[in-house]
Amino acid sequence: MSVPPPIAMLAELTHRCPLACPYCSNPVEMTRQDQELSTEAWARVFREAAELGVLQLHLSGGEPASRRDLTELVTAAREAGLYTNLITSGIGLSQRRLADLDAAGLDHIQLSLQGTTPEMADEIGGYKGGFARKMQVAQWIGEIGFPLTLNAVLHRRNLHQLPRALEIAQEMGARRIEVATVQFHGWALRNRDALMPTRTQAAEATRIVTEARTALKGALVIDYVPADYHEDYPKRCMGGWGTSGLNVMPNGKVLPCHAAESIPHLTFDRVQDRNLHDIWYKGDAFNAYRGTDWMAEPCRSCDRKTVDFGGCRCQAMAIVGDAAATDPVCIKSPHQGALQVQADTHAAQDDAPLVYRTAP
Ligand code: SF4
Ligand code: FES
Repeated sequence: MSVPPPIAMLAELTHRCPLACPYCSNPVEMTRQDQELSTEAWARVFREAAELGVLQLHLSGGEPASRRDLTELVTAAREAGLYTNLITSGIGLSQRRLADLDAAGLDHIQLSLQGTTPEMADEIGGYKGGFARKMQVAQWIGEIGFPLTLNAVLHRRNLHQLPRALEIAQEMGARRIEVATVQFHGWALRNRDALMPTRTQAAEATRIVTEARTALKGALVIDYVPADYHEDYPKRCMGGWGTSGLNVMPNGKVLPCHAAESIPHLTFDRVQDRNLHDIWYKGDAFNAYRGTDWMAEPCRSCDRKTVDFGGCRCQAMAIVGDAAATDPVCIKSPHQGALQVQADTHAAQDDAPLVYRTAP
């Protein structure tokens, strides 16, 4: 099987974050600051990524602005020839820091939105004053002229705010909004009772997005991640395992997707021990679920197997206990019925408390 080079790399610069979002997909066991890669190590990884063929670098976390060397890291990435996208809550970015990032060549900013009102956003983020600060940062981003994507994470508590989120994206001058229904990986798995959307909410969100895509054509691009527990077919997670992207953790471990550590039998190479080229092409974790040879029925004989590659391996692991199983979201999975009952049960837990993410 011929393996193409990855297009994108997600660099999780740190797991530290001033927010404590219950939907966080970072692992429950987070990397401590003293285990994070140094500036020089990241710069080398960026060069290796560019040599491997990576075009886009997504600087993420945690909150990447928690790294004091963020501007140096952007400089290093641009010197390596990578397109740089900063994924941030905005907290920790001053006007001066944004100007420095602009001078360093940062190409794009993706700003997260926890809610469309201070009450909602500050409750979900677990950070008082966070919404007001974010709006200020958005204004500075607009003044500098960074291309902006708004990233709204939606769940049972805030899905009713979707129409307002679309308005806010336009008011901020964003070119794109990602309407991402919460995915239950990492810390978020603890919050399925508190965050699972109802079936009615999921359908309503799809209707709103469909209508808005027509109404806002040419003005705002809407990327949509639906509530997949309520879908008939799974998403093509990571574009297919080991086909288009890789994630580097704050401690240097290289993963095929951000939740891959939830698959217990996989072992992961570190950038300290092996270069990125070898990790991508020869690493055990990357080859574990590449292509279609690993599939069992019903995926093996399914005509969609090169459309969705059997869905999400981490979701199969979390729900079915077998990472090689068909994603239980799929209508052909023997587990789909049970999953839907489970989703409805989670969605009915109206009194479930939010379990906030703790800092590493
Ligand atoms: Fe996709 Fe497998 Fe379902 Fe077919 S059976 S649609 S390949 S998840
Ligand atoms: Fe790991 Fe989907 S999150 S394969």
